[in-house]
Amino acid sequence: MTEERSGHGPPHGAALAVEKIRLQSGGLTVLDKVGFQVQPEEVRSVIGPNGAGKSSLVNVICGLCRPQSGHVIIDGQRLRHVRPRVLLLDEPMAGMARTEKAAMAQQTERTRAHLRLAIVLVEHDICVVMRLSDRIAVLDHGVLIADGTPAEVRHDPEVIRACLGAEAA
Ligand SMILES: Nc1ncnc2c1ncn2[C@@H]1O[C@H](COP(=O)(O)OP(=O)(O)OP(=O)(O)O)[C@@H](O)[C@H]1O
Ligand SMILES: [Mg+2]
Repeated sequence: MTEERSGHGPPHGAALAVEKIRLQSGGLTVLDKVGFQVQPEEVRSVIGPNGAGKSSLVNVICGLCRPQSGHVIIDGQRLRHVRPRVLLLDEPMAGMARTEKAAMAQQTERTRAHLRLAIVLVEHDICVVMRLSDRIAVLDHGVLIADGTPAEVRHDPEVIRACLGAEAA
């Protein structure tokens, strides 16, 4: 059984939509009305400094954490009723050497193409993120501070302040 999505605006054919996710934990607002869409077969990265809420967002998307408010919509349906065509990767390259990262990046691309999956990628290596992503969401203190293509995001002053820092200088 599926629960048809209604009353939350059109999904525009998105493979995944997160809508106004608010997650609180121990008095802290971990995610503050975070929303974006992931189109089918798109690599959507989520970046941001440590503690920004990236893993918490992944936990909300996969249903491990239930947000206080907001929705996760997959293929137009509420999360708990569907088999997603979305792969979630949280720092898959952490601790890898450069050559391993390159192989992993290539494998991610292949997986996307062969299985026709949308991919949500949380990754700290900004070079990998810039190369692999169709779109990038930038979180800082639980707030979505930017959402755009790699070219758009890389020049955003807020993004440079929050997470590119010395690398962009
Ligand atoms: N189980 C938990 N209980 C309470 N607070 C938590 C819990 N998990 C995470 N937090 C807090 O939520 C906030 C977001 O943490 P999260 O792990 O989502 O960040 P992150 O962006 O994935 O960071 P990193 O880049 O270090 O992996 C942080 O302030 C963290 O201390
Ligand atoms: Mg994390």
